[in-house]
This record gives sequence, structure tokens and C-alpha cells, in this order.
Amino acid sequence: MGQNSKKKTFPLANVYQLLEPGPVVLVSTSHKGIANIMAMSWHMMIEFEPPLVACVISDRNFTFNIIKKTKECVINIPDAELAPKVVGIGNTTGAKVDKFKKFQLKAEPASQVNAPMITECFANLECKVIDMEMTPKYCMFILEVLQAWITTSKKRQRMIHHSGNGNFITDGKKFKLPSKKK
Ligand SMILES: Cc1cc2nc3c(=O)[nH]c(=O)nc-3n(C[C@H](O)[C@H](O)[C@H](O)COP(=O)(O)O)c2cc1C
Repeated sequence: MGQNSKKKTFPLANVYQLLEPGPVVLVSTSHKGIANIMAMSWHMMIEFEPPLVACVISDRNFTFNIIKKTKECVINIPDAELAPKVVGIGNTTGAKVDKFKKFQLKAEPASQVNAPMITECFANLECKVIDMEMTPKYCMFILEVLQAWITTSKKRQRMIHHSGNGNFITDGKKFKLPSKKK
């Protein structure tokens, strides 16, 4: 198997790097007046409208219990310029640290949920948890986006993609191809 194909085996533990998911996002939550942020790259769109997003949030994260309790969060989409902060946020737990303060990010009120929006992110998706059936087994939450915000800035926003072991890729050149009209 694979003898003539000039390929070598690839560790199963690294398969996720090939099926690299969408951009790294910041999930903000709030509980009893305490706001927190975590980095997340394991998410997937599962419906157009209302937009539904499947997210894996490890039960080792402080965010896990907060989302389970409050059933809401904001998905904030950072530009590549924020990458160092995103990685810092993804390597710090909010159990004892105020990450808004530590990483000098501004929290602004959302319109539909109590979780704050991160001002510096170029898009913010206010979400509520609509399904926790797969939470016990896979730490998976299904979120519905209730309200979405996008910057009015004309500056090209470059999303961040995680390709494993501290390697990141930013969005490259944009191009358009014809596609079937909906
Ligand atoms: C680039 C990046 C992507 C991450 N993606 C996820 C993810 O999809 N799901 C997850 O549970 N943790 C993910 N993490 C880890 C959490 O962000 C990290 O454990 C964080 O410290 C949790 O914060 P909290 O304890 O305040 O909730 C990621 C971290 C980084 C740096």
C-alpha cells in the first residue's frame, strides 16, 4: 500500500492539520459579571440560515462550564495583526486571569446576548447554544448565530488559520469564480 506513490505515512494525531478548519476565532463569554475569552479553531458551519455552527470546546477549558451554564457566547473574528494576542489567549486560562485586561482588548455590549463583543475583532457573531446532545461525548456545542456584525473599514481583513504546532497561515490572494445562484 502506498509503495509506489512517493508518499509516507502521516501520523493520525496530525490528520487535523490536513483538514484544517476555518479561521481561528475568539469565543467570548460572561458569567456573573466576569468576562472571558478563548481561542478556537475547531468549528464548522452546518446551516446557512439561520446560521448554525458546530464547535468543539474542551471540558478542560474554563469556557466549557460557562457556555454550558449561560448557553451563549460571541464568536469574534480577529485579523492577522491580532495573532500574537490570539495565541496568548489560547495559552492562558481565564479561571484566574482577566484576559481582556491581560491582552488589552476592549469588551463592548452585544445586542442579543450577555457575552461581550471584542471591539478589536473585525466581525462578531452573537450566538446562543441550541443543542448540547453531543456535548457529553464530543464536547460539541451547536450554536445559532442570532446577530452578526462586520467592520465598516475598507481595510482588507486577513483571517488566521492554524496548521498545527504553532504554525499559522493567513488568507492569501482573493479570487472569484462563477458559482450557481441561490
Ligand atoms: C490557535 C488555537 C486554537 C485553539 N482551538 C481550540 C478549539 O477549537 N477548542 C478548544 O477547546 N480549545 C482550543 N484552543 C485552546 C484554548 O483556547 C485554550 O485551552 C484556552 O486557554 C482556554 O481558555 P479558558 O480556560 O479561559 O476557557 C486553541 C488554542 C489555540 C492557541
